[in-house]
Amino acid sequence: MASIHNTIGNYHLLAELGSGSFGRVYRGAHAILTNRIVAIKLMHGVHLNSQKERDSFIQEALLLERLKHPHILPIVDVGFHEGFPYMVTEYAPNGSLRDRLRRQSGKPLPEQEALSILSQIGEALHHAHEQHIIHRDLKPENILFNAKGEVVLADFGIATVLGTLTIQQATIIGTPPYMAPEQFKGMVGRESDQYALGCIAYELFTGRQPFTAPDFFSMALKHIQETPTPPKQLNANLPIHIEQAVLKAMAKERADRYADVSTFTGALHRPLKTKEQWLDEGRLTPTTSVLGTVKVYFLNTLEGQKKLNKPTKKQSNLATKDKRETICNLHTSHESKSAALAADKKHS
Ligand SMILES: Nc1ncnc2c1ncn2[C@@H]1O[C@H](COP(=O)(O)OP(=O)(O)OP(=O)(O)O)[C@@H](O)[C@H]1O
Ligand SMILES: [Mg+2]
Repeated sequence: MASIHNTIGNYHLLAELGSGSFGRVYRGAHAILTNRIVAIKLMHGVHLNSQKERDSFIQEALLLERLKHPHILPIVDVGFHEGFPYMVTEYAPNGSLRDRLRRQSGKPLPEQEALSILSQIGEALHHAHEQHIIHRDLKPENILFNAKGEVVLADFGIATVLGTLTIQQATIIGTPPYMAPEQFKGMVGRESDQYALGCIAYELFTGRQPFTAPDFFSMALKHIQETPTPPKQLNANLPIHIEQAVLKAMAKERADRYADVSTFTGALHRPLKTKEQWLDEGRLTPTTSVLGTVKVYFLNTLEGQKKLNKPTKKQSNLATKDKRETICNLHTSHESKSAALAADKKHS
């Protein structure tokens, strides 16, 4: 077993950072490039005896190497130390989301901070899902803050390539408080990651995990059967659209969740608008996305034109309808789009 003052591959071990289900994590420095500080995860629990096992670990590492994204913890190196595989990643010096939650002592995170964290994880997951890679063990311990204070998602190590299937049989791996109902039955897919992100969102917005239970089986039963306490009962200031979005991502049936993770994080940011709100340019708030910027630019342009041309009532009605349809088309969320179209139909 490695200890501090040992060397693994090209790295001197400086300190132990902690341990998890597969092994220990150390802070280390490159033996020659001494400014290169990294995290080294030595997987004690996974002794790879045969060449076949080693090959499959290498295959996995090659796959993870492809996963390059600003919010995914980059892999720097992999290798074997006395038969045990290790993975070297960038060191994230600003702790984990679990550390951040501990500092809150059970209080919800400020809404904007929670939204920003969830969007960043959502982007990382969306990128992985596009490459048919699912995380499978999403939890605050695996969400880290890098040197810039940005969120980076760690431990795609147990991710599975889905191939063309959207769901596949899998051994039960995950962390019970964040596991989707189907994951307890050995099935895992993109939707299970969305469910876990829903549980994390629940915890950030309420300060509490959706379910607590003394053991694995009672936890499984709760995830499979019980409805969580509505988040607004625990945080009265929480906007209703956030509560709705979190509960939808945590739906028991996969088909009842959002189509994908980015639709979920989009819904966290965007309340369903009434017709009046769609038309009230002054109150249309830009979202963080490029689409939001386009939307506001478009509305401003229309507003400018309206002032110049002083349209007749009929022209102005047409422009408004046009504007509404364009906003709908710019929006990616099914819900926002159909709500706006329904409002339009009702009032035309
Ligand atoms: N790249 C990193 N930079 C800084 N700290 C890290 C890094 N990777 C892991 N850690 C820290 O090391 C500790 C152990 O991580 P590890 O991944 O082994 O366990 P875990 O996340 O609790 O569980 P799991 O094995 O299910 O991922 C955690 O506290 C984590 O915050
Ligand atoms: Mg981890």
